[in-house]
Amino acid sequence: MLSVPEYSARFIDYLSQRSLNNEPKNLYEPINYILDLGGKRLRPVLTLLAAELFDTPLEKALDAALAIEIFHNFSLVHDDIMDDAPLRRGEETVHEKWDINTAILSGDAMLILAYQLFENYEGDTFRELAQLFSKTAIEVCEGQQYDVDFETRDDVTIAEYLKMIEYKTAVLVGAALKMGGIVANASKECQAALYDFGRDLGLAFQLQDDYLDAFGDPETFGKQVGGDIIENKKTFLYLIALQNANDDDARQLEHLFSISPTHTEDKIATVKQQFIESGAAAATQEKIAFYTEKAFVALDTLKISEDKKKLLKDFGKSLMERTV
Ligand code: IPE
Ligand code: IPE
Ligand code: MG
Ligand code: MG
Ligand code: MG
Repeated sequence: MLSVPEYSARFIDYLSQRSLNNEPKNLYEPINYILDLGGKRLRPVLTLLAAELFDTPLEKALDAALAIEIFHNFSLVHDDIMDDAPLRRGEETVHEKWDINTAILSGDAMLILAYQLFENYEGDTFRELAQLFSKTAIEVCEGQQYDVDFETRDDVTIAEYLKMIEYKTAVLVGAALKMGGIVANASKECQAALYDFGRDLGLAFQLQDDYLDAFGDPETFGKQVGGDIIENKKTFLYLIALQNANDDDARQLEHLFSISPTHTEDKIATVKQQFIESGAAAATQEKIAFYTEKAFVALDTLKISEDKKKLLKDFGKSLMERTV
């Protein structure tokens, strides 16, 4: 097994070999732009690592890893249009740097390029990868639609929120790991355990993303801090703050999340204060730890060495400490 930074380096190597210099430039430049902006490369690393857990060389999993990363980046290009986000990984979003139509079409092409990569696999491996990919991709769309629908609803429940983040984020993390298992021809039981581990880690990951969206450091976060508050996103922070607030605070919070002021500084400051004072910020941290621990339970059924399990656990723990 390699270390996580080594898997990441191997993946980035492969990605850079496959840079697209095709025409028309306005279709392909945005694709290269977003893929080269970097990011944590969490999902492809998990695919490579999962294959090697079952003694299959990472080379066999590179196309699946690339498919997952291109799909993830496609979802970000469209997500940034939907969330009206100006910044991604510290740089302009695709629809800001080019325009919305360019971002839509380059995103569409990325989805197809991702799918095409599975053609490099044969027989059962191809079929299982393509099946998992299609199922996951449609769930991501469902999650994204719930996320947008919730912006204008005032009766979103915690259970609905959890379902929404499972679909928009967690299933892709689960699929990234399971794809490594499929390429390695791991047993169905092990594939399921990998998926469950990834899904629960993905839930923790999205909770953390929501937390950082409010409380991240604007210097290092790489996205617009307070973006979810501006967009009236019904995050765990918001739902718990509302649940814990007294009547006056609850009414104020509900009002703030029903408007879109031109100047957002006051709204963001008031909401963040309520997130802290209501205990919602602390409750979110606890929930992140809860899902990370839950993910580790899935490792019990995985038939791999304790050393390998430790690598997965250390990776899960490191995600909890992230600031980006
Ligand atoms: C951002 O994903 C979208 C979410 C699902 C929260 P990442 O935080 O993995 O983004 P990058 O790829 O590292 O930029
Ligand atoms: C991301 O949710 C989920 C997908 C892109 C599918 P967010 O909207 O919270 O992601 P960021 O914060 O913009 O990266
Ligand atoms: Mg977004
Ligand atoms: Mg979004
Ligand atoms: Mg976010």
